[in-house]
Amino acid sequence: MARIRKAVIPAAGMGTRFLPATKAIPKEMLPIVNKPSIQLIVEEAAAAGIEEVVIVTGRGKTDIVDHFDAHPQLEEILRRAGKEALLHEVVAPTKMVKLSTVRQQRPLGLGHAILCARHLIGNEPFVVFLPDDLVDAQRPCARQLMDVYEETGKSVLALMNVPRSETHMYGIAAGSVDPNDPRRVVVDRLVEKPSNEQAPSTLAVVGRYVLDPVVFDWLARTVPGRGDEIQLTDALASMVTTSGILGYLFEGNRFDAGDVTGYLLANLNWAHKQPRIWSQIEDFVRSHPSK
Ligand code: UTP
Repeated sequence: MARIRKAVIPAAGMGTRFLPATKAIPKEMLPIVNKPSIQLIVEEAAAAGIEEVVIVTGRGKTDIVDHFDAHPQLEEILRRAGKEALLHEVVAPTKMVKLSTVRQQRPLGLGHAILCARHLIGNEPFVVFLPDDLVDAQRPCARQLMDVYEETGKSVLALMNVPRSETHMYGIAAGSVDPNDPRRVVVDRLVEKPSNEQAPSTLAVVGRYVLDPVVFDWLARTVPGRGDEIQLTDALASMVTTSGILGYLFEGNRFDAGDVTGYLLANLNWAHKQPRIWSQIEDFVRSHPSK
């Protein structure tokens, strides 16, 4: 089975849930502790074995490109000052993967954003990382899905069980659980943001997908759907019946960093890994009993 080397990160959305912070700053540049959230995504991609990443950007997103570019003047200042640890932090994002960008000229939807990367992906399977979805996992979430693809040759979606009251916020998958692996689901239906009553299951698709390149043909044929946008879910729904799609209930904790509360929780999760910062947060919480 083809080895997966490439990934697409669609980052051309408007980030309206985070206004006014995202009026002038790309939401992907908002920090999780001291790293822009999109750096955590590229770190996951590199840890999963991805070699080439295409970031789909749009108007006002050039800070993202600058972050992954070298900054010779800053590097020289840090080098001269002997600040080796900081120098390493500044250089690291430039070395993780081979990175290219493509511009989505109009925000016509997630499906359209992925289609914009077609010429850079070519005829290879690839991973899509939605940069809002941060996953803290022992084995990178993307790697978990890539292993399933490399074994089966089928496109694989990351799945997570959600309360029925939240199904309207997600693409929802229905299907049958693989008797040999309770984490695998053979998907037979996909619906974009169904009402809580009409959701065919509580299995939500979250922002990691391993896709066969045939998805580009389906995306090219997909007409605008929900919200008048070209939806990835609609193209995937066509693939369910033609090529077959698997879901995988990944191991790990997912945070929706595109939502204010999810973003704050993600910050706490990653701050928890730094004892010095965490002890100060604990002190703060202790001195602020809930109202
Ligand atoms: P969302 O639907 O979450 O949109 O897009 P958004 O603009 O980022 O955020 P809100 O809802 O307005 O706050 C899901 C993913 O698809 C990308 C977004 O950048 C995000 O990563 N996207 C969406 C595009 O790249 N282009 C689009 O036209 C739409």
